[in-house]
Amino acid sequence: MTKLSTTLVVLCSLIALSLLAISAAEEIDGKTPKMRPHTVHFHHPKDQAHRKKFAGGYKLVSDPTLILDYHFGPVMTGQNDVIKLFVIYYGEFTKNQRTTLRSFFKSFWHPKAPVKTDRPTVEKWWQITRKYVDLYNTPVTSNIVAAGELFDNYSLGKDLNQSTIQQLVIDSFAKFGTDARAIYLVLTAKDVTVESFCMNVCGTHFYTFPSDATDSQMVPYGWVGNPATQCPELCAWPYAPGGSLAQPLIPPNGDVGIDGMTITIANILAGIGTDPYGNAYYQGDAGAPLEAAGACGGIYGAGGFPGYPGELLVDNATGASFNVFGARDHKFLVPWIWNPDTLQCAGQV
Ligand SMILES: *[C@@H]1O[C@H](CO)[C@@H](O)[C@H](O)[C@H]1NC(C)=O
Ligand SMILES: *[C@@H]1O[C@H](CO)[C@@H](O)[C@H](O)[C@H]1NC(C)=O
Ligand SMILES: *[C@@H]1O[C@H](CO)[C@@H](O)[C@H](O)[C@H]1NC(C)=O
Repeated sequence: MTKLSTTLVVLCSLIALSLLAISAAEEIDGKTPKMRPHTVHFHHPKDQAHRKKFAGGYKLVSDPTLILDYHFGPVMTGQNDVIKLFVIYYGEFTKNQRTTLRSFFKSFWHPKAPVKTDRPTVEKWWQITRKYVDLYNTPVTSNIVAAGELFDNYSLGKDLNQSTIQQLVIDSFAKFGTDARAIYLVLTAKDVTVESFCMNVCGTHFYTFPSDATDSQMVPYGWVGNPATQCPELCAWPYAPGGSLAQPLIPPNGDVGIDGMTITIANILAGIGTDPYGNAYYQGDAGAPLEAAGACGGIYGAGGFPGYPGELLVDNATGASFNVFGARDHKFLVPWIWNPDTLQCAGQV
């Protein structure tokens, strides 16, 4: 029996509850393996039982069933305390969109100097992943560094599946090199359809299988789609209608699709960092596990619960809502992450 697992980040309709689905080991019987998402859970915001459990956010993981177990696999410990990030822009992204995304990717880098500012930042958000350690007590790397980018003008068409996403990653090795201690991220433009995209799925993460094309390496990668036109209410919430919000919040970078994408990218990066091969930190049934950010189900601030993002910061000039600052004073919304030290969800260390 061959085992195949795929990891999918899912933001559920109305409530932007992020869940992660790893497909369970499947019998392949010599046929072409098919990657498919497993059933995911929906927690409707009106579900009172859930609401009670999630009220306050902090209570979330005091439920013992919501502790993320360690399954003895590797976490992303990087190299020289750095995880390189290689980004593949697939399809058309405007200059403004690229600027916003690049600023997000540069927001993780904090060479030596401790974070000076008192305000919440992307850096301090990522440091929560440092609480996740491997068998040798080595934590997830503290730095993600934007190490390269490439632009692909629809070389594989406008309708992709999980196999072609992996092909894009393998194709990128020619430019970036093959590095299993790096993260490769495929971002698809708003006019690209991807298998499962918007069917409860906003992004996925997985890894290459050892082969000649991958220099025998298992390289972790993620994919996130721009949901602007295909499913903003699903993958760009709370910047699109849904949940208990009377109206959508104003996105900090003025782009519902891109501000939604950064939420999912944050989710995926936290998932790859703490569970790159689907055998490190996750909770629950291997068929539909929760990872670091997914476990905190759609919470972005104190008092959050599925369908209500929680208390956020507001940009007084634009009215936009966000919860962290990044490079060049850009503002972003990132999901809370489960903190293994405190057994609670948190937005900052
Ligand atoms: C990308 O491809 C389209 C056709 O699919 C073409 O019109 C456009 O000029 C190309 N853009 C770049 C930057 O090459
Ligand atoms: C993915 O798409 C490619 C290209 O269209 C196709 O050849 C392949 O069979 C598809 N794979 C799956 C698993 O559907
Ligand atoms: C917005 O203005 C209020 C009141 O002046 C201030 O307390 C708050 O910090 C400001 N928000 C931001 C994000 O600067």
